[in-house]
Amino acid sequence: MSQPNSPSQQPAGRDSFVTSLGAVVVTLGSAVGLGNIWKFPALAGENGGAAFVLLYLLCVAGVGLPVLIAELLLGRHSRANAVTTFRKLSPGKPWFLIGVSGVLAAVIIMTFYTDVAGWVYSYIFKSLTGQLSVEHTEAIFEQTISSPVSSLLWQWLALGTTAAVVIMGVSKGIERVIKRLMPALLLLLIICDIRAISLPGAKAGLEFLFQPDLSKLSGAAILTALGLAFFKLSLGMGTMLTYGSYMSDSQSIPATATRVVLADTLVSLMAGMAIFPAVFAFGYEPTAGTGLLFMTIPAVFASMPFGGLFTFLFFVLTAIAATGAMISLMEVPVAFIHETLGWSRRKAVALTVVVMALLGLPATLSTSVWSSYTVFGMTFFDLFDFFSSNILLPLGGIGIALYVGWVLRRDKFVQSGSNQGGLNNQRLVATCHSLLRFVTPVAVTIILLNGLGLFTL
Ligand code: PHE
Repeated sequence: MSQPNSPSQQPAGRDSFVTSLGAVVVTLGSAVGLGNIWKFPALAGENGGAAFVLLYLLCVAGVGLPVLIAELLLGRHSRANAVTTFRKLSPGKPWFLIGVSGVLAAVIIMTFYTDVAGWVYSYIFKSLTGQLSVEHTEAIFEQTISSPVSSLLWQWLALGTTAAVVIMGVSKGIERVIKRLMPALLLLLIICDIRAISLPGAKAGLEFLFQPDLSKLSGAAILTALGLAFFKLSLGMGTMLTYGSYMSDSQSIPATATRVVLADTLVSLMAGMAIFPAVFAFGYEPTAGTGLLFMTIPAVFASMPFGGLFTFLFFVLTAIAATGAMISLMEVPVAFIHETLGWSRRKAVALTVVVMALLGLPATLSTSVWSSYTVFGMTFFDLFDFFSSNILLPLGGIGIALYVGWVLRRDKFVQSGSNQGGLNNQRLVATCHSLLRFVTPVAVTIILLNGLGLFTL
């Protein structure tokens, strides 16, 4: 139970999640996103299938889970946004820069995430209106990304949908909407899985995903798996910290984090199970990378009975996943502006949307009219992706691990993680603290150096 003056008491009037199940589902809604459906299958396909999946699971358990627990606990402990959290816990020290980097990362990730989400939204429309013909998926994708006006409009629709939920607040908007969407996403995924697995020739796809061939593992795959674990669990940028700040004192944070990690991994595997059996059954290449989602899937699904319907369902579920992640991304700057500048939530959302739309403009136009503008040899889309995923997220992750491991005392962390001794999980939380102190900073520094091209395995 909370002490009268404990730092973890929610300030009067601050919104929070209503139920602990709701808190788990919303946290899962942030983790589940394009990462599960677009990045995970594409990277598993490119890095040898099951062996990569195994590596990924190790990275998630050894590095992802401790950082997730740390972020949620920091947020709940301080009851504040990503920047104020560090200001409150370490006044006058530069640790708040971790939060600043988080807010920046959220805005930058949104510039290209909303762009890809816009393509997904447009594919729902295209599948409904029968515009996704099997033979022309490549040309259709080309046309989708190279038309400046329509890709901007779809991006703004994705941004507007996200804003409509965030503006309603934490309990009445985010929790209420995501609690309804997540079961729908799971149901659609199960339907697509059943369809894919019952295709003749599906076995090769399942073997590809579940039968590890360890000889296929490379050093580079380890780094890719580690980076993916970070992006997948929305770590290193204050998203989970912000969500943790809305969790109640009686919620078990380690149990919440473990459930989210397990369920998120299950969703990734289920997405793989919907994709690879169908890819193999129809003789496509599993290594098609990014094109897997927008070119291979429409082609594969369209060639099976009731293909149009399944393509539609698949893109609806992808849009739901992307929207849950975008909501959590938008909440980071909104909570920061709302709480530090004292602006109303409505005004904070408006400012955030304008900034995201303006910065999103060059990202979106870089696949069409601005494709020849490059910075450091990258288009704006690639630059924003590179700067956030390869620099800001790892930096944030290292910062959080160092802060919790070396600044926040172990007994304080264990007390907070065990709900002041009310939960019988002290050993687990203490192990997490040790991992954060020694293992995580080294592992994430290696991802950072690798992302910058300064280190390869
Ligand atoms: N976890 C989300 C996904 O897998 C992406 C994300 C990253 C969301 C960082 C929020 C913060 O798609």
